[in-house]
This record gives sequence, C-alpha cells and structure tokens, in this order.
Amino acid sequence: MGLLLLLQVLLAAAAARAPAAQAWGKEGHYMTCKITDGFLTSEASAAVKELLPSWANGELAEVCAWADKQRFRYRWSSPLHFADTPGDCNFSYARDCHDTKGNKDVCVVGAINNYTAALEDPSSPYDRTESLMFLAHFVGDVHQPLHCGHVDDLGGNTIKLRWYRRKSNLHHVWDVDVIEQAMKDFYGKDQDAMVKAIQRNITEDWSREEKQWEACRSKTKTCADKYAQESAVLACDAYKGVKQDSTLGDDYYSAALPVVEKRIAQGGVRLAAILNRIFSGNGELQSI
Ligand SMILES: *[C@@H]1O[C@H](CO)[C@@H](O)[C@H](O)[C@H]1NC(C)=O
Ligand SMILES: *[C@@H]1O[C@H](CO)[C@@H](O)[C@H](O)[C@H]1NC(C)=O
Ligand SMILES: *[C@@H]1O[C@H](CO)[C@@H](O)[C@H](O)[C@H]1NC(C)=O
Repeated sequence: MGLLLLLQVLLAAAAARAPAAQAWGKEGHYMTCKITDGFLTSEASAAVKELLPSWANGELAEVCAWADKQRFRYRWSSPLHFADTPGDCNFSYARDCHDTKGNKDVCVVGAINNYTAALEDPSSPYDRTESLMFLAHFVGDVHQPLHCGHVDDLGGNTIKLRWYRRKSNLHHVWDVDVIEQAMKDFYGKDQDAMVKAIQRNITEDWSREEKQWEACRSKTKTCADKYAQESAVLACDAYKGVKQDSTLGDDYYSAALPVVEKRIAQGGVRLAAILNRIFSGNGELQSI
C-alpha cells in the first residue's frame, strides 16, 4: 500500500471514530448557504462579500461550517448550537433558551438574535466577520430538528444505533448520515447537484408556502423561536420508534430525507431574508 493511500485509510478511520459533531455536517451547512446565496439582493450580496474572510474566496457557503471548528477555541460558543427541550414537542424561549448553568439567552435562538442585532448595529463591538459566520451557521442549526431535541439524551447524541450497518447515533443520522446517503444515491456525491434539486423545489413544489417561510412580523427580533418550535415538533417525529441499539434503514431514510431537504431549503431562504433585512433594509427575497 502506498504511503498516501495508507494515510488516507488512517484518516478515514479516524474520521469514522470522531465524536458526533453537534450541527448539520459540513454538507448541510454548505447547502443551506448555497441556497441563501441565490436569494440575496445585490446590495446584501455585496455587503456579505465585503465581510467574508479572504479564505472564503467570496463564497458565503465556504464559511457556514466555520463555527463548528471554533467550539474548542471559543468554548463559550458550544451551547449556542442548539436549544434542547424536555421532550414535549414544544420550544419555549423562557423555559429552554439557557445553558446548563441557567444563563439566559444562551441557546441557538438567542445566538441568532444576538448576531443579527450585532450586524444591524454599526456601533456593536463584536467582530462583524465573526458575527456573519456565526449567524449563517446558527440559522442552519436551528432548522436541524435534533438541535431542538430532548435534553435527556443531548439531542439524540446518546442514542447509539446503527444507520444501516454502520455505528452512529440519532443526532448524527440527522446531521450527516441522511444527507450523505442521499448524495450517494441520487446526486453522484455532488453537493451542488443536491442544492440544485432543492432549489428547483423551492421555485416549483414549495413556491406557495415559501412566502410563509420568510414572513416574520417581529420588528425587534428575528423569528428564530418559530423555527425552533418547528424543529421541536419534527424532532418528536424523529424519535418515534427509535431506541438504544435500533437499526435504522430504508423506512426511516425515506421518511427523513424529505424533511431534511425541506429544512435545508427553509434555513437557506430564511437566512437570505435575515441578511436582506440587515443589509438592504427589507426581508424580501431576490427572485431567482
Ligand atoms: C407550547 O408552549 C407555549 C408557550 O411557550 C404554550 O402557549 C403552548 O400551549 C405549548 N404547546 C403545547 C402543545 O404544549
Ligand atoms: C453574543 O455574541 C458575543 C460575541 O461573539 C458572545 O460573546 C456572546 O456569548 C453571544 N451571546 C449569545 C447569547 O449568543
Ligand atoms: C421536493 O419536494 C417533494 C414534495 O414535497 C419531496 O417529496 C422531495 O423529497 C423534494 N426533493 C428535494 C430534492 O427537495
């Protein structure tokens, strides 16, 4: 075996053992932000490009998984990725948006409000590039149902199971496994092809409901609490029939995939509406 191949095998083995990430995986975040990109007004798109770090090469989608890599550097950011609930299919900001020490607003919904407010306020002391990267990530996360999963099992992370024949856990199934399986089965492992299929759905099958997705009446906050509520309801379904050591296969996959695709679509559309509101003064989407 060549050295390079050996290295690849070792890296793949290490990746397979890595602990579950607590967010849509890289692909989920990339796709969400690719969708966003298509709906930005030219003004918002220019403002976003201005804030992106040079390593993004002008692509919002390149920075949308950044926040996951900061969890060790910025330990305080770890509880900002989710908002778990007691498991009553309901998210309540007052009840659920805090960290384990009870600090208020420390959850994914609080973080979306925080970074939106920071970007809206030119005098905010927070780094604007980081605020954009956090915001783009957390709007993705709040749409992943298991990010509003149950507190007791850490959003499904402690529910160990098999995804087909591979060891996984319920959280990871929703972050990564369903998306990777779909990319393999339907899109030649190409995330841009999957993005195109989701985009087509937004303008065709979902074109009527899409208006409701972006609607947000709140003048002072984002509507992220509504997105968390939707996720809490979807999470309830995601837990049904799943126990420790379950094996999830075709039935689970075919029920989960349309949900995953729609949540990526909604996350993308809503992030665009938020960024358009911040940078061009209204949340209307640029039509594609
Ligand atoms: C969900 O919580 C809200 C308060 O945050 C409450 O008004 C509503 O009745 C709850 N719904 C259910 C189904 O428990
Ligand atoms: C708000 O953003 C600042 C700057 O990144 C961070 O220190 C703080 O923890 C954030 N709070 C929440 C609730 O997101
Ligand atoms: C498109 O929408 C249909 C109907 O909601 C759904 O079954 C399908 O999974 C969606 N496909 C994609 C790629 O979003």
